[in-house]
Amino acid sequence: MKTIGKSLSIEEVEVAPPKAREVRVKIVATGICGTDDHVLKGSFPNVDFPVIPGHEGAGIVESVGEGVTCVKPGDKVIPLCLPQCGECSFCLNPNTNCCLQTHLYQSQNLMPDKTSRFTCKGKQVYHFLWISTFSEYTVMPDSTVVRIDDAAPLDKVCLFGCGFPTGYGAAVNTAKVAPGSTCAVFGLGGVGLSVIMGCEASGASQIIGIDINKDKFATAKDLGATECINPQDFEKPIQEVLVEMTGHGVDYAFEAIGRVDTLTAALASCHRGSGVCVMVGEPPPGSQLSFDPMMLFTGLTLKGSILGGWKMKDSIPKLVTGYLQKKFKPDVLITHNLPFSEINEGFELLRAGKSIKNIFID
Ligand code: APR
Ligand code: ZN
Repeated sequence: MKTIGKSLSIEEVEVAPPKAREVRVKIVATGICGTDDHVLKGSFPNVDFPVIPGHEGAGIVESVGEGVTCVKPGDKVIPLCLPQCGECSFCLNPNTNCCLQTHLYQSQNLMPDKTSRFTCKGKQVYHFLWISTFSEYTVMPDSTVVRIDDAAPLDKVCLFGCGFPTGYGAAVNTAKVAPGSTCAVFGLGGVGLSVIMGCEASGASQIIGIDINKDKFATAKDLGATECINPQDFEKPIQEVLVEMTGHGVDYAFEAIGRVDTLTAALASCHRGSGVCVMVGEPPPGSQLSFDPMMLFTGLTLKGSILGGWKMKDSIPKLVTGYLQKKFKPDVLITHNLPFSEINEGFELLRAGKSIKNIFID
C-alpha cells in the first residue's frame, strides 16, 4: 500500500470475491518499472490513496464472477494495464490499441461498479489501473486479463504485462522500423532496451543508445545497439551529435525516459525529410512540448506509442508463445529476483540505476 511521500508498506489486506464480469487472480510474480516509480512519487495522474500499485505481473486465476467466459480457475494469466473490452469504438478501430476503458479516459481506481475489492483494517483501499499486481490476490474486470500458455514461466513472462511489449512494439508497430535504417534510443532502462530489441529484430543497420548511465551500455550492445553515447560526454547538444553521426539525422528516434527535454532532443535528431520520432516514455503531467513547427513541414513525423501499440488481449498471448519459441529474450532484462518483502529495496535499486528489471516473487 502507498501514501505519497512514504515507502510502500506491506499490510494484511482482505480481497473480496469477484463480482459479475470480474476475475480474482493469485499473483505469482510482478516486476516494477519507471511508471510505478511515478506513482510512488505522486507524479502519475489521477491515483487515489491509499492504493495497491503494480501493473506488470503474472498469476493464476483463483475464481471468476458471473458471466466470465475468457478465463477459468487454474489458468495462467497476465493482467492487462491497458484493457481491451472488444466492444468500444476504439477496440473496433484497427488503428488504435487504446480501449475507451483505459485510465486515460476513465478512472480505474475502483472497479467499474465504483466499489473496491480491497479492505485493510476495515478501511477501503484503492485499485491501480484495475490490476494492482503488488498484492497476493487481486481482482480485475475481465477486460483486463488474458490467458497465456500453460508452459509459460510466470517469473519471466510478467515482463509481457508492460515493459517488454511497450518498447518492442514502439519499434515494430508504431515506428515500423525498416531494414537497413538508423535508430536512436533515448533511455536504456527496461523500456529503451526493449525498443533496441525491436529495432534489431526489424533489421536496423545502426542503433545508437543514449543514456547518462554508462552502466547500461553493455546490455544495450548485447541486445543490438551498434554504439552507445552519454550526452554528458559532449560539449554540443546530443541532437547535433546524432545528426553528424548519421549525415542528416536518424530515420527513427525513440524517447524512453519520460522527459520533455529528451523528447525535444529526440525530435531534433531525426531526418527532417522522413524521420519518425516516437514518444514512448510518459512525460510529466501538465508538461508542454515546444519546438519549431517548421521541423514537421518537410516531412518529419512525431508519434506517440502506448503499450507498443498492441491490442493487449489479442497480442500478449501470441507474444508469450513467441517467447516460448525463443523469438524474444526479455529475460536478459532481469537483473534481480527478490522476495516481495524487499519491494522497497527494488525501488532503491531502480532509482540508483543499479537494476534494469527487478522481479518479485511471493
Ligand atoms: N538523458 C539520458 N538518459 C536518461 C536521462 C537523461 N536526461 N534521465 C534518465 N535517463 C536514463 C536512466 O539512466 C535510465 O537508464 O533513462 C533510463 C530510464 O530507465 P528506467 O528508469 O529503468 O525506466 P523504464 O522502466 O525503462 O521506463 C522508462 O517509460 O514506462 C515509461 O514513462 C515511463 O518513465 C518511464 C519510461
Ligand atoms: Zn474497448
